[in-house]
Amino acid sequence: MNSSPTPPHRFSVAPMMERTDRHCRYFLRLLSSRALLYTEMVTADAVLHGDRERLLGFDASEHPVALQLGGSDPSKLAEASRIGEEFGYDEINLNIGCPSDRVQSGRFGACLMAEPELVAGCVAAMRAAVSVPVTVKCRIGIDDQDAEESLDKFIDVVADTGCKTFIVHARKAWLQGLSPKENREVPPLDYGRIYRLKARRPDLTIVVNGGIETLPDAKAHLEHVDGVMVGRASYADPYLLAEVDREIFGSEAVPPSRLDVLDRFMPYVEAELAKGVRLNQMTRHILGLFHGVPRARLFRRYLAENAHLDGAGIEVLKEARRVVAGESDRAIAAE
Ligand SMILES: Cc1cc2nc3c(=O)[nH]c(=O)nc-3n(C[C@H](O)[C@H](O)[C@H](O)COP(=O)(O)O)c2cc1C
Repeated sequence: MNSSPTPPHRFSVAPMMERTDRHCRYFLRLLSSRALLYTEMVTADAVLHGDRERLLGFDASEHPVALQLGGSDPSKLAEASRIGEEFGYDEINLNIGCPSDRVQSGRFGACLMAEPELVAGCVAAMRAAVSVPVTVKCRIGIDDQDAEESLDKFIDVVADTGCKTFIVHARKAWLQGLSPKENREVPPLDYGRIYRLKARRPDLTIVVNGGIETLPDAKAHLEHVDGVMVGRASYADPYLLAEVDREIFGSEAVPPSRLDVLDRFMPYVEAELAKGVRLNQMTRHILGLFHGVPRARLFRRYLAENAHLDGAGIEVLKEARRVVAGESDRAIAAE
């Protein structure tokens, strides 16, 4: 994958639990053929002992797609990485950024920023087990760590294993006293810290993450670093991905319209419904598709009220399309 003219890390969609599942990724891929997509975090233990097809299965159209793992046991992470590669993932990523208590108790996530040698051991074992790239997603620091010194040390120790790509969330993780949700808003973002990291280690691929909401913002970051990773904004307003191929990757393809994207999602939804997947499991990811355009609220409301009902089928999505296209009596009555 590193042989493509524009490296895939130039624009990626962040791993998000309960969000970037396979249905979501299929949908996002209809908007951008180039953005690198990440799975939700899956723990190494879950990969080893869980229902692998359910946890790791994905559609071939999702490439390029990276599997994010959580854990701190090198041999388990190595085995989980091997299984991930066998499933066809293009990259294996280790999560060193998540501050939640549950994650700390299993000793993984952001608390590992304080243990660079342990992380290096994990990454070395993962790299030895697979031939696809192994990457790390981390924070600029945790708690009262000195974000200058400790981040440099962390990156240097882990990069010594041969790991070349680091995605850095530009905000410290606070391991106590903040919920993970609060910890995505405070403390303040420090992009300058990540730019300095790239300037000090130009040999590494450094991707900035946190608070990026528009493509102009993304392009401004790309003046300083190799890539941007966008999480919440990609989910709340997925249509921003429609310009990514052209604006970020230099493609000449004309972006699809929102209705085109919806139309291309329909056959997938029908096929998954036939396999027993509930409509709402898929449509919950598309509620933001019409963000900012007329009848977006009606579209969301119609799906929110109908897609979860027992037996809800493709006709619900077709009616939602008519609603947002202004072709339904429901839309006309509401206007
Ligand atoms: C609902 C939700 C779930 C998340 N789950 C994960 C996860 O599984 N792994 C991870 O590394 N980060 C996770 N994150 C953090 C994001 O990947 C990202 O670092 C963070 O949201 C900051 O980027 P943003 O401001 O572009 O959203 C999650 C964030 C959200 C909002």
